[in-house]
Amino acid sequence: MDNQNFGIGILGIGMCLPESILTNYDLEKMVDTSDEWIIKRTGISERRILDKDEPAYKLGVKAAQRAIEDAGLKPEEIDFIIVTTTSPDYLTPSMSCMIQSEIGAVNAAALDINAACTGFIYALKIAEALIANGCYKNILLVACEGLSKVVDWEDRATCVLFGDGAGAVVIGAVENGLGIVKTCVGADGSIGHNLTIPCCYLSNVDLEKRVHENKRVVWMDGSEVFKFAVKAMAEAASKVLDESNFSIEDIKLIIPHQANVRIIDGAAKRLGVSLDKMYINLNKYGNISSASIPVALKEAVDLNLIKKGELVLLVGFGGGLTWGSTVMRWNR
Ligand code: COA
Repeated sequence: MDNQNFGIGILGIGMCLPESILTNYDLEKMVDTSDEWIIKRTGISERRILDKDEPAYKLGVKAAQRAIEDAGLKPEEIDFIIVTTTSPDYLTPSMSCMIQSEIGAVNAAALDINAACTGFIYALKIAEALIANGCYKNILLVACEGLSKVVDWEDRATCVLFGDGAGAVVIGAVENGLGIVKTCVGADGSIGHNLTIPCCYLSNVDLEKRVHENKRVVWMDGSEVFKFAVKAMAEAASKVLDESNFSIEDIKLIIPHQANVRIIDGAAKRLGVSLDKMYINLNKYGNISSASIPVALKEAVDLNLIKKGELVLLVGFGGGLTWGSTVMRWNR
């Protein structure tokens, strides 16, 4: 990889969010909560929610089409698709196959990966390696989540936090010296039991934690995840900066995973940066898991907050538990 004479970066970017908005005031009518509590403890005011009969992959299709168009490519020119999701409509066919079919990416192989909210950063790491070693030329990454379908709408501890949405990028060769500088990813499965979404099996321990008949829903020990998140975000950011020989001062904008403004604030304090350096949109969308980072990146690009040649730091954490960070020299 060190000898390659091209960079690997983002050729195109797109996003798609459902139109329906669920506000904190709407939630007040559903569970014992208040707008004041949710804003104070999380920073979230509203989130976008899919209609009950609308599958999540449709958001991924639109985000993918927008990213491919932005890259100036045709769907047939995509040769590999990676979808990151914690909330697939089906286990099989995978969301990546469903998206591949609908966008007409007839020459693309397709697979889903699950690193929960860190999924997009894991996917960047995989895509970069596959392009660097000559396997593929144009890789489509789609982070696509329909979390409203796995949330227990009677559990106030979790239902106020999550939303639906999708972000997509096309990764390929860019000008030498631009694009992805370094990506670090990691996991600590020994604390994975703090955030669970069961699928084909549910242990008795996990069953007992869940309320009512809602067995196949998100359950989380919020304070344990919170503690991990603040530390993991700060450490992941420091690690990728160390390994790429940059300091936090070199970074123009940080795009953190959008779970809770207090987590972002805690990480910013540990890193010694002001919140101004952190792009925050969780007030509008809540936590959209792996889609959080690409959606925030797309908004930051549209707002002209990052210019060609400037350094961006993406940093996230999530179920697993997992963490990841990327330093990128913006190439567009
Ligand atoms: N509305 C009102 N009260 C609520 C509530 C809600 N939606 N949810 C929880 N509460 C209550 C609790 O029952 C508790 O009441 P008690 O003291 O009488 O027992 C009280 O508020 C405090 O709960 P606690 O869990 O200590 O709050 P917190 O300050 O830790 O905030 C989270 C809770 C979930 C917002 C916070 O822990 C968090 O953000 N964790 C990380 C979540 C995350 O990022 N997950 C995604 C990973 S990718």
